[in-house]
Order: sequence, then structure tokens, then C-alpha cells
Amino acid sequence: MSVAAVIVAAGRGERAGGGLPKQYMTLLGRPVLSWSVEALARAGVDEIVIAIAPEHENLCRSATDGGPAVKIVSGGATRTASVRAGLAVIEAADVVLVHDAARPGLTGETVRALVSAIDAGAAGAAPALPVADSLRRADARGAVTAEVERDGLMRVQTPQAFRASVLRAAYAALPDDAAMSDDLAVVRAHGGACVLVPGDTRLMKITYPEDLGLMEKLLSGERVTCVGNGIDAHRFGPGDQVTLCGVRIAHDRGLVGHSDADAGWHALVDAILGALGEGDIGAHFPPSDPQWKGADSEKFLRHAAKLAADAGARVVHVDVTLVCEKPKIGPHREAMRARTADVLGLPLSRVSVKATTTERMGFLGREEGLAAQATATLERPA
Ligand code: CTP
Ligand code: MG
Repeated sequence: MSVAAVIVAAGRGERAGGGLPKQYMTLLGRPVLSWSVEALARAGVDEIVIAIAPEHENLCRSATDGGPAVKIVSGGATRTASVRAGLAVIEAADVVLVHDAARPGLTGETVRALVSAIDAGAAGAAPALPVADSLRRADARGAVTAEVERDGLMRVQTPQAFRASVLRAAYAALPDDAAMSDDLAVVRAHGGACVLVPGDTRLMKITYPEDLGLMEKLLSGERVTCVGNGIDAHRFGPGDQVTLCGVRIAHDRGLVGHSDADAGWHALVDAILGALGEGDIGAHFPPSDPQWKGADSEKFLRHAAKLAADAGARVVHVDVTLVCEKPKIGPHREAMRARTADVLGLPLSRVSVKATTTERMGFLGREEGLAAQATATLERPA
């Protein structure tokens, strides 16, 4: 049996808030939408159509770039209209799955159970879970108005699977402006017999702001904490300023280096790479490569943060120690913290910048140069 899927992604994600619509937010290193596309392709679905809001086309293209082949169409003002738009471009399929982009926790097991149910003769099938809490009806002020019998009530998820001809006929019979809560409702309204298969907690829909974090926990499996450390030193030379942890400080000398010689951020980049097992800064930005001449070290730090995100890791804390007699770091410490927190997207409380001297001993004591040491703590998939 050939299987096609429509992923509805044309919503605005208003209840979830945030700058991006929820289907394009990053979940453990990749866009929410791409989780469903990949799960469907891995489960052997032959054709995948995504219905989107036209203004999200670039977001959708970058979320699906490099992944399995997809067809992108404009959705409509309601979920029902979006399904209709997706269904219209599906070519030849025996079974059509309709899935919410906002449910990234799809597994092959669910897809197989749904297709088997259709194969066994059902017109439609959906994953569902029993309701565990007791149910009440309440008015807008929160006063309880009735008990609701929980027995036999099920929470229905997506994807929902249908015999293609039945789904097409049910949508054709539906008034143009109808807005149904899901596709099981559409097919049942047309007389199709539907069954439920076991649902999956991981198929919860991202709806409210806290759901993305919850989803990360559900999908991340075992996580480990890895600590990396980094060290860097640069020699003083001619100049009238130094850049440390992204902050320019006037000084009677400069730091000699291929890039901007920001020892603080270089040590920090090495610490993050260390926690990822990704080599060192020289391997990523070879000093022999002219494109890094005089480079702003913010580029290096952003690159390390991106490598972490791509690996599904999260930087949770960083600590940088600058070692020098001069310049005095104290007056600039808070600015350095703020810059570092900003680039890494961390709250200030998870970023530490501090300084010490070597009591005038050694090359640092003689002010031949300046050194930095950093520690980065990352949470990553085990
Ligand atoms: N959806 C759609 N077209 C619409 C409305 C919703 O394709 N006109 C999709 C959403 O993108 C989502 C799924 O239907 O994948 C379930 O809808 P919902 O959770 O309500 O998502 P949003 O409408 O985006 O969120 P909100 O209602 O909070 O704005
Ligand atoms: Mg909605």
C-alpha cells in the first residue's frame, strides 16, 4: 500500500508565544517541523506534503532543507482548510496520514499501527490515550457546574490515517467553510468507521510556552553533563587597546594574535569544544587561513555554540578566569559577563568572568603577556 502524509503547519502558534511560530522553534538542535518530516520518511511514507502559512515559506524551506523530499503548499485560515489544501496535491496514495507539525514526537511504531488498522479495514484510525485525571465542567469564573464521567473518554492525537478515497470523499462532502476539530471528525461525519490505536505520550502537542521544554525532556532520553576546559595566552605588543571577552579596553599595549587575540573567548571556545569532543579552536579556525586575520572572536564563540546546538547539546554554565597584572579587569567584568551571556544566549547568572594575577611571578608577572582559562558545562545526549 502506498502511503502519503499531509503535515499541517499553517498555524500561527499564538498560544505558545515566542518570536517564532512553534513549528519552526528549535527542539534539541533542529526545527520542530523537521522531526515529523524525518519520522514519516523513516517510517517509509512515500510522499510528504506540508501546508504552511505563505509568509513562513522561508522558515519552512530552511527547516526542511537537506532533509527528505517534501512538497510545500499554502494552507488556509483553519486547520480544516489547511488539510484540504494538502490533500489536493497528493498524487496516488492508498492511505493518507494527516499530522500536526506541532507534534514532533512521532515514532515509526505509531505509523505502522495506523497503517495496519487501515489495512485491516477501518476507514480511519488515530492514536489515543486514556484520560487519567477526573473531569469536571466549570464556568468562566471557575465554579464547578457538573461532574463528567471519565469512563470511555480518550485523548486523540495525530497522525490520523485514512483510506485515501474515503478521506477525499469526506472532504468533498464538507461545506467549504466547515472547521472541524480533526480529520476523524470529518470522516465520521461522512459515515466512515474509525478505530483508535494506542497513543504515545511523546505525541503531545506543543501548545503553550512551557510545552517546548517538556517536549525536550520527553525526547532527549538520557542526558549527560560534560565539562570542558580551555587555556589561551597572547603576548603583549604595540597598541593602545585589548579585547577581552568581547569588550575593548584601553591599554598602553595591544595583544599580538592572528585574530583579535581575545584570550578570554578563545579559552572559552576551547572549553566548549572540549565538552563536545570537537578538537580545538586551531582545528576549526586555522591561523594559516587568511580569512581569520583580525577576526572578531565573537564569530568563533558563535560557531562553538552552533556546534553544541547541532549536537543537541546545551551550554548550561561558563566560567572564565583572566590572568594578568594589567589591565585591571574589575571595572570591565560585568560588561564582559553581559557580552558573553548575550552571545551564548545564557542568563547572566550562568556566566562568570573573574580575574587574578600571579603575584608578579613568571611571564605573566613580568607582563610579557596575558592568559585565560575557561570551563564550560554542557548537557548533551548520552
Ligand atoms: N494549523 C494549520 N492551519 C491553520 C491552523 C492550524 O495548519 N489555519 C496547524 C498548526 O500549524 C498545528 C496544528 O494545525 O500544527 C494544530 O493546531 P494548533 O495547535 O491550534 O496550532 P496553532 O493554530 O499554530 O496554535 P494557536 O492556536 O495557539 O495559534
Ligand atoms: Mg490553532
